Amino acid sequence: MATEAPLYKDPTQPVEARVKDLLSRMTLQEKAAQMAQIERRVATPAALTNLAIGSVLSAGGSSPRDGATAEEWADMVDEMQRWALASRLGIPIIYGSDAVHGHNNLFGATIFPHNVGLGATRDRELARRIGEVTALEVRASGIQWTFAPCLAVCRDPRWGRCYECYGEEPEIVQMMTSIVSGLQGSPPEGHPSGYPFLAGQRNVIACAKHFVGDGGTHKGINEGNTICSYEELERIHMSPYPDCFNQGVCTVMASYTSWNGEPLHSSHFLITDVLKDKLGFKGLVVSDWEGIDRLCKPHGSNYRYCVAASINAGVDMIMVPFRYEKFLEDLISLVESGEVPISRIDDAVERILRVKFVSGIFEQPFSDRSLLDVVGCKEHRLLARDAVRKSLVLLKNGKEARQPFLPLKKNAKKILVAGSHADNIGYQCGGWTIAWYGGSGRITAGTSILEAIREAVGEETEVVHEPNPTASTLQQQQKEPFSYAIVVVGEAPYAEMLGDRTGLSIPFNGHDTLSLIAGTIPTVTLVVSGRPLVLEAQLLNQIEALVAVWLPGTEGGGITDCLFGDCDFHGVLPVSWFRSVDQLPMHSSIGADYDPLFPIGFGLRMFDKKL
Ligand code: GLC
Repeated sequence: MATEAPLYKDPTQPVEARVKDLLSRMTLQEKAAQMAQIERRVATPAALTNLAIGSVLSAGGSSPRDGATAEEWADMVDEMQRWALASRLGIPIIYGSDAVHGHNNLFGATIFPHNVGLGATRDRELARRIGEVTALEVRASGIQWTFAPCLAVCRDPRWGRCYECYGEEPEIVQMMTSIVSGLQGSPPEGHPSGYPFLAGQRNVIACAKHFVGDGGTHKGINEGNTICSYEELERIHMSPYPDCFNQGVCTVMASYTSWNGEPLHSSHFLITDVLKDKLGFKGLVVSDWEGIDRLCKPHGSNYRYCVAASINAGVDMIMVPFRYEKFLEDLISLVESGEVPISRIDDAVERILRVKFVSGIFEQPFSDRSLLDVVGCKEHRLLARDAVRKSLVLLKNGKEARQPFLPLKKNAKKILVAGSHADNIGYQCGGWTIAWYGGSGRITAGTSILEAIREAVGEETEVVHEPNPTASTLQQQQKEPFSYAIVVVGEAPYAEMLGDRTGLSIPFNGHDTLSLIAGTIPTVTLVVSGRPLVLEAQLLNQIEALVAVWLPGTEGGGITDCLFGDCDFHGVLPVSWFRSVDQLPMHSSIGADYDPLFPIGFGLRMFDKKL
């Protein structure tokens, strides 16, 4: 007689029954292996079949090969899945990647504005749509889990991750959490808050990160210490999380930071008492990349301590990512010695299995090749272009009242396009694009700002591109005067600690380039940056118009749509635009002393003087 399929393999059974049945069949070694997430470069049949490791990830930029297609990604993930399904109990892996502004690890994918630009739109439906489209392009590559959205409330722009934040006030971040419903699909009416949800195979598991207080790190020091009362931590940094739980977010990532000196990765109070018990989160908590290794520093690199401290605090899955044998050895030893109770292991594995059953991965473990054509498709790029338009913040338009400088004329005789960021896809995409910290030049398919300008102006317009003009080149060029100049300046891409800066002047000598040009040619300045930069008052007076374009991604056309008047500006500042870094940290909550160059919420329309 054919043996009956075990209950956990029966999709008609309730999720919780499948979780319990499968858990009851697992050995301690298999349970421990499910709690490990390893990097793709060490994923082997030995790890996934013999040990039954639970999850694999791609670090930022870690792809099958440079320029790998979605099909090559899907081949890689599917091969790993076959190894996992060959394990004793056939538990599929879930594969994670940072798709934080589109599927930014994938060459040719649609790259959306980074979160700071989306925060300027204050458009929750746009965020949801972006989540939907990102999910399609992620699933096209065979990946089921994205480590997004970042819910950090950036309180100090000196932090290298401010561009990953929707804004400096929790209300802005809360509004944009609608991306979770785009990524995962919207749960039905009455879905229990905190219980993971995934609509189907065209959605991806989302990850609310980094719990909690990452954006409040003191002086913007990455992986630093957030010093505040519990009331402030809850009101400012924790408030976007319930918005995600109401949407059934499946996973939460612990923060590298500490709260009043206690590392989040070992905080039983915040991860178990608050996140799991008080807020009722029933999905899985994953550590950050080598997040538990950071716990070792004060403990003389005693990795066993790190494992015990993080697991007992309530972290369920450890992003190891390489030395997983050591992790498994220590964890099993800790359970056998009683330092980590088996009840904690069972709670962690239940949560991991719950997310896997909810995701449908047991029924559909492999990629859907019918999605391959959606990667970077026209419809998605049009959505990204619309997002760019809505993210732009017009900060100045005309030197005199009632004499707006924008929109620019499309039929001008001769125009100058200058600046380090005028023709650089990599710069306009910023960090977390193709490589972890981004890159320069044509790093992926897209339209640079210069290319968009050339497309927007009339045939009779002469477009002169001078990235870094000298006074003499300008003089030579002026034989035939320029109607106007578009000068594009900003920051080079960065990620995490690589972006921590105490001085926030315009890099690449941008100030001098601007001053030289604006001194003789009517100039509109575009600032490509993940945060406000210092703008000297004298320079501000010299230029005719100023636009914050943030990190717009691949669709530079969204910028010229507004510059040339095809649509109006709508964006408003999601962060305070400081006058000087000596003012930092600065928020509107400080009352009368709040003295920014441009306040949070500021943004002009082309034809109005003030919003
Ligand atoms: C990084 C980041 C986190 C990211 C993870 C995986 O260090 O802190 O946001 O999701 O590692 O790439």
